[in-house]
Amino acid sequence: MKDASVKPKLAPSLLSADFGNLEAEIAQLNPQYADYLHLDIMDGHFVPNITIGPMVVNAVSKLTQIPLDVHLMIEHPDRYITDFIRAGANVVTVHAEACAHLQRTLQFIRQQGAKAGVSLNPATGLDVLDHILPDIDLILLMTVNPGFGGQKFIPQMMEKIKDCAHRIKGSSIELEVDGGVKLDNIRELYDAGARVFVSGSGIFGHPPYNDMMKKMRAKIGLSE
Ligand code: DX5
Ligand code: ZN
Repeated sequence: MKDASVKPKLAPSLLSADFGNLEAEIAQLNPQYADYLHLDIMDGHFVPNITIGPMVVNAVSKLTQIPLDVHLMIEHPDRYITDFIRAGANVVTVHAEACAHLQRTLQFIRQQGAKAGVSLNPATGLDVLDHILPDIDLILLMTVNPGFGGQKFIPQMMEKIKDCAHRIKGSSIELEVDGGVKLDNIRELYDAGARVFVSGSGIFGHPPYNDMMKKMRAKIGLSE
């Protein structure tokens, strides 16, 4: 276990960008202000929506220096992990609910050369992670039910974030929150212990994006 102080990170979610102009949208994100570019992969089975696959991730990877944080909301994620890492994913996050052998899947992600993330839906308890913490680089707590951007933060998730932060205290695991993260609640989430902040509509709904990211960064103690 390493240093307790995990530096906060901001992760704009491309889901709320204009998909007809992805190159122009990405060009507007200054890598100085975006620590990860969060990419939401949906298969129409695990969640009731369909988005993008490895081909688009690969195209995006050629457009930016920002590390890619790939959130797999898909069934049978093991089948696609290698493809997404080859496409340029730096972090690959799978849903615990979609993995019969979660520890094996996490090990596989690391073996393939990416950071291993686990996501939990709002209704999933933290206990599923208790015995596999050494295999995890990042925990993504969903603060809405996955599938769509622009939903409202579920208030009871605040306690879950605090509980999770407490359980991983002193480790280098990054605690990420996703869903309904905005300028007006990012500080409260930080105080609860979150350290990676995904925001889709909170950034892409408020151009210019760099100005919004700077404001969010200031709230979580990042000077730039
Ligand atoms: C939802 C996705 C999120 C989404 C968040 O299933 O996992 O990453 O983009 O969108 P906002 O920030 O608008 O709630
Ligand atoms: Zn996401």
